[in-house]
Amino acid sequence: MKLDRRDLLKGAVTLGAATLMSGAVAKTKAMKILVLGGTGFIGPHFVESALARGHQITLFNRGRTNKEMFPAATKLVGDRDGGLDALKKGEWDVVLDNSGYVPRHVKDSASLLKGRVGRYLFTSSVAAYDVVPDRLPMGATSTLKVLAEPGSENVGKYYGDLKAVAEGYVTDIYGDAATIVRPTYVAGPGDGTQRFTWWVDRIHRGGDILAPGAPLASYSLIDVRDLAEFYLTLIENNTAGTFNAAGPAGTFNWGGLLNGIRATTSTEVRFHWADSKFLLSQNVNGRELPMWNPGSEAINSLLWEYETSVAAGLRFRSLATTAMDTRAWHRTLTTKQQLFTRAGIDSKKEAQVLAALNTKRS
Ligand SMILES: NC(=O)c1ccc[n+]([C@@H]2O[C@H](COP(=O)([O-])OP(=O)(O)OC[C@H]3O[C@@H](n4cnc5c(N)ncnc54)[C@H](OP(=O)(O)O)[C@@H]3O)[C@@H](O)[C@H]2O)c1
Repeated sequence: MKLDRRDLLKGAVTLGAATLMSGAVAKTKAMKILVLGGTGFIGPHFVESALARGHQITLFNRGRTNKEMFPAATKLVGDRDGGLDALKKGEWDVVLDNSGYVPRHVKDSASLLKGRVGRYLFTSSVAAYDVVPDRLPMGATSTLKVLAEPGSENVGKYYGDLKAVAEGYVTDIYGDAATIVRPTYVAGPGDGTQRFTWWVDRIHRGGDILAPGAPLASYSLIDVRDLAEFYLTLIENNTAGTFNAAGPAGTFNWGGLLNGIRATTSTEVRFHWADSKFLLSQNVNGRELPMWNPGSEAINSLLWEYETSVAAGLRFRSLATTAMDTRAWHRTLTTKQQLFTRAGIDSKKEAQVLAALNTKRS
């Protein structure tokens, strides 16, 4: 089943706006911001926050996803893959490239806009890092992946590698006017991937829960609203550089994540930890137990450097807030939309794997 993104986001944006409006909002000079994308998950939170702060937003996308969103924004229709005519005119203070996966697309838009935008902010990913366990944490100067098949545009196979290549184009073309943000897992209201949302739901259902990997395995995530506000802070301060968007501050682990969600429910919960080797032998995969990376229990120290980002203005709301708001948003969806079709293990298989784990241990 394909979730209806319009309904999916209806609650998300309301929640995001409510959060923003409840806090003290600094007055800044209104800026002209071009967003490549803007109507998926991260984009709407950013656009909502930017509009609330008085900025002028232009959206560039194909007009397919949530096209009724943001009537107050100027809308340019086109395709990153060879359809950039709508971007041939116009000037903006900054462009947020939030939909760049294929390096060629990023290079094309970065080149076309050169001289007409003051800053190019590119959404990359921590997947761009070539993670070396004895060189943690990974940060701005760490080594990135190298695309094994030069010229490949296979995003499914080389997501992180392609982000690394795309970053290179942005930095080459914009120099000090480039800002790169590498988020880790993004969670919160409106997340159509269902990954974090599934864990919140599963833990609230309670009982015996198959917990993958090890509680001490290093872990991080970022609330989508913290990411959106970080983008705005970087834009308003005209900040150059490369930043991770991963939280919370300090070393955080997978056990902290699951137990942090558990703290938001009064349901009785019993976690049963199973290592990656066992789970793989049971044919359990990372889609069924989302956000678990097989083998990740080997890494117990901080993965992603965060202090540079905090110094630049990144702030983290509590995991409990992310969990409770995600649950509240999920419950605004229709019964059909609430079904987990993109992430999660079915109850029967979970029970079977738990039984096998019990047998192994007895
Ligand atoms: N979610 C995570 O955990 C996570 C983690 C790390 C990094 N990221 C990064 O976050 C970004 C995605 O965030 P999001 O999905 O929330 O973005 P978004 O900006 O909210 O939505 C994606 C936008 O891209 C547009 N789009 C898609 N294909 C297009 C094309 N060929 N030409 C023009 N526009 C196109 C879509 O509109 P149309 O369909 O109407 O064109 C939509 O507006 C990506 O760069 C991703 O790598 C995400």
